[in-house]
Amino acid sequence: MEKSIILTGITTTGTPHLGNYVGAIRQAIKSSRYSNQTSFFFLADYHALIKSKDKNLVYNSTTAVAASWLALGLNTDNTIFYRQSDIPEITELTWILNCVTAKGLMNRSHAYKSAVQINYENKEDVDFGVTMGLFSYPILMAADILLFRANTVPVGRDQIQHVEMARDIAQRFNHLYGKFFELPQARIDQNIDTLIGLDGRKMSKSYNNIIPIFATEKQLKKSINKIKTNLLEPGQPKDPQDSLVFQFWKAFGSEKQIKEMRQKFKTGISWGDAKQELFELINKDLAEPREKYNQLIAEPKKIESLLKEGAQKAREISLPFMKEIREAVGLKTL
Ligand code: TRP
Repeated sequence: MEKSIILTGITTTGTPHLGNYVGAIRQAIKSSRYSNQTSFFFLADYHALIKSKDKNLVYNSTTAVAASWLALGLNTDNTIFYRQSDIPEITELTWILNCVTAKGLMNRSHAYKSAVQINYENKEDVDFGVTMGLFSYPILMAADILLFRANTVPVGRDQIQHVEMARDIAQRFNHLYGKFFELPQARIDQNIDTLIGLDGRKMSKSYNNIIPIFATEKQLKKSINKIKTNLLEPGQPKDPQDSLVFQFWKAFGSEKQIKEMRQKFKTGISWGDAKQELFELINKDLAEPREKYNQLIAEPKKIESLLKEGAQKAREISLPFMKEIREAVGLKTL
């Protein structure tokens, strides 16, 4: 079987929350242990500049995301874990790809179209607030993917279009210059969209309904107590299918625990008790990583040195490949 090359980026503009953990991080870390694949995970800090002009936010989020992945058990010996801005070949390739990408393809990007739509509705100039970074965002993402010849790209549903665009761009380049790039495929992890926020909507910073992975024990408890429930009294049977508390339980419990909780719902566990049990379950999962996280955050030098090692491993691949690409397009020494 052909070796999978898995690659995914995490934009560094926020604090990782339980939705990210259950949806993407947990799965990525687990699957990175298989030996029939190479995994690239990186902090997409150039992408962060598109979304945010707040330098402290970008910087702190980069630290927090790196510390989270490490604390949750990412093994940096068998994965390549790096910061996008440490790999100059990514930006170099971005330019070359810019020169083969049709503007018309970028016009169809959802992220750009939705910004235009909002401006239109607000009777602004349609390009108000649209930077070239936002417009050509999919080209930077294509460079991330194509530079490492990834064939499998785990992403949330909102990113499928970008992976398809990376495929289009790769095909265009290959058609012009020869078969250099692998055609990547998006992989949607079933869970990615399903962990719901405290109010039943998808967990997202923009809805203000997130639980940070490394909230303190006290904050975690407080957040769980805020999960929406109905008005059923203790003793009254409750429908697990219809309960956010149960959704969270399912994301963290073993099969046996899920079965037991289903039974307790039937026999009318009170919301207070159910939430207390949920807190204990999640807290048990996160207590040890939380301690590691706090240690790492207090020692950013340690994170930095791991990222530097990752960048070195990544560049062992990207440097020689970039040399081939430069030559392919006619940029070479005389
Ligand atoms: N744009 C992606 C997001 O916002 C993050 C990302 C950047 C990415 N580069 C990537 C994901 C390359 C997969 C592959 O979620």
